[in-house]
Amino acid sequence: MRSEKTKKFLEVNGLSSRYYSSNGPVYAVDNVDFSLNENESIGIAGESACGKSTLGLSIIRMLSGGKTFGKITFQGESILDVPESEFDEYFRWKKISMIFQGAMSSLDPVFTINEQFIEILNQHDFDGDLIQTIHDAIISVGLNLHVLKKYPHELSGGMKQRAIIAMALLLKPKFVIADEPTTALDVLIQAQIMNLLKNLKKKGMSFMLITHDLAVLSEIADKIGIMYGGQMVEFGSSEEIYHNPKHPYTQGLLESIPTLKGNSPRYIKGNPPSLFDVPTQCQFIERCPLVMDKCSQLPPKFKTATGYTRCWLYDDTS
Ligand SMILES: Nc1ncnc2c1ncn2[C@@H]1O[C@H](COP(=O)(O)OP(=O)(O)OP(=O)(O)O)[C@@H](O)[C@H]1O
Ligand SMILES: [Mg+2]
Repeated sequence: MRSEKTKKFLEVNGLSSRYYSSNGPVYAVDNVDFSLNENESIGIAGESACGKSTLGLSIIRMLSGGKTFGKITFQGESILDVPESEFDEYFRWKKISMIFQGAMSSLDPVFTINEQFIEILNQHDFDGDLIQTIHDAIISVGLNLHVLKKYPHELSGGMKQRAIIAMALLLKPKFVIADEPTTALDVLIQAQIMNLLKNLKKKGMSFMLITHDLAVLSEIADKIGIMYGGQMVEFGSSEEIYHNPKHPYTQGLLESIPTLKGNSPRYIKGNPPSLFDVPTQCQFIERCPLVMDKCSQLPPKFKTATGYTRCWLYDDTS
């Protein structure tokens, strides 16, 4: 019965998330679609406050002060319709896990790494082999078991981030949302962490890797979603996004990556739109070098070779 549905690993359709702040609703994620097949990973890129973390938190259903609409089908299961107690028991951390943005600084300074792992497993009423499970997780991220006896301040930044990743892997999830896992790290450690994620991917794990830096996605992402002003303005294979980007914002992001060859990166002038307003026109209208009259209407998703783009330039009906 479910074989047709389970072919897709993850399908997100018309996903919107709103926060209800004292200044009014924040349209943090607006009508996002994307899908992944088994063993595929997606990279999510875009500048600050465009809704990347909100998208991840919406999938793991941990949005605080907000509400999510639309449909998420994970391994054939419509996970926004699953009651919270069931989602917590069968999905969150067990099938879908998240490495939170800035989590390195949330390690508790007064407990050893081992104590913090035990605490997590106890919170989940884990009744398997505690020691073996913790050892498996630590080894899977390339750390030495000695780390378990240490306090967070005794670890380097790279070791702390590996410990955080190991925590997200404790219950052996199939899908891990990694929100800016390399942002606070120097470039060499960043490369090591990316290598680690790549190896985990080879072992069958799928990732949603969130970053503001499009360049770091190249090694891990099979597909890429570009977020701007709460919308996924372009989605497609990483090949298409890197080599044949359609949306002027994606093109601008790629041109803003510094290169070692001395080409000076070009920056996108101006500021992103306020997310307090319901989008009624192209979100990129104020900054787009190719703006046209039509852009004052909200662009739908125009099909591309491997996905879609929300840009009127690709409207072939006109
Ligand atoms: N709990 C909240 N209540 C109200 N507004 C929020 C809340 N969390 C985030 N926002 C707002 O939602 C928008 C999207 O935030 P989000 O954190 O998803 O962006 P982001 O792309 O992850 O940014 P960054 O790159 O800085 O991490 C922002 O305008 C942010 O201020
Ligand atoms: Mg974020």
